[in-house]
Amino acid sequence: MNQTVRKAVFPVAGLGTRFLPATKALPKEMLPIVDRPLIQYAVDEAREAGIEEFIFVTGRAKTAIEDHFDRSYELERSLEDSGNFQSLDGVREWVPEPGQISYTRQQQPLGLGHAVWCARYSIGDEPFAVLLADDLILARPTCLKQMVEAYREVGGNLVAVEDVPKEETGKYGILDVLDEKGKLVRAGGLIEKPEPAKAPSTLSIVGRYILHPSILTELNKQERGTDDEIQLTDAMARSISATPLHGFRFEGTRYDCGNRLGYIEANLAYALDREDMKEDVVKIIKKYS
Ligand code: UTP
Repeated sequence: MNQTVRKAVFPVAGLGTRFLPATKALPKEMLPIVDRPLIQYAVDEAREAGIEEFIFVTGRAKTAIEDHFDRSYELERSLEDSGNFQSLDGVREWVPEPGQISYTRQQQPLGLGHAVWCARYSIGDEPFAVLLADDLILARPTCLKQMVEAYREVGGNLVAVEDVPKEETGKYGILDVLDEKGKLVRAGGLIEKPEPAKAPSTLSIVGRYILHPSILTELNKQERGTDDEIQLTDAMARSISATPLHGFRFEGTRYDCGNRLGYIEANLAYALDREDMKEDVVKIIKKYS
């Protein structure tokens, strides 16, 4: 099978309960980091990795995401009229071409595996990426770009991984490691959210995947796992003998923006990463420390 990755799925149908009340009417993925919503960072990352088709799996109360990736003629006109060309570029330049972006709805939030399965007709029969926008990764080149290159070598299913403190394994999918070569880790299995005593390692999956289309056949079974959800990790674990699974130790820093502290840290880190803001942000941090 051709190992080129042209399509990316963005599951954005979760309820975002850890961020209530902010996420009552606003999708979690529209929370801003400095001045761009989380989902825009994910789309930009995918584009830099060579992705040509962007498939969103949305749910109720997510229309802000569709509007964000559409042209806004009134706004553009008024920025043009006032000569604010810098802001005009800021709202226009990253909007995908017509037809590059598509939306499907996950009618019930039955889990990440189910969300990916909802995109099956748009994915078709080729490898595809999955990006979870609330896992924000500051990396150059971007995490997905690093993975796309590694995928040419290994194929199968590839997941971004990093070590987490032992006491936190219960929050992640954890790899059972067979062997390691450079940044690639061959997995013999994986377990969703194991308690620390039962975790086979501390190597956890973060929200970037490149998946073989056979995962969709596995997801067709609609089997429920941890938290009674249809888990993507379970589907990868069940198909591991037919479709090898590798972890990829990416270079970069991940911020878990699905929780409050991770989100605050990401805002600081991204502001400090910007030349136009760095000095002022350092002053603010000093003021409060
Ligand atoms: P999370 O586990 O972070 O769940 O989902 P959540 O609902 O977004 O947030 P909390 O835990 O209630 O605060 C990881 C990713 O998978 C998507 C979410 O939108 C998020 O990007 N997801 C999760 C779906 O699209 N559908 C689901 O059924 C579950």
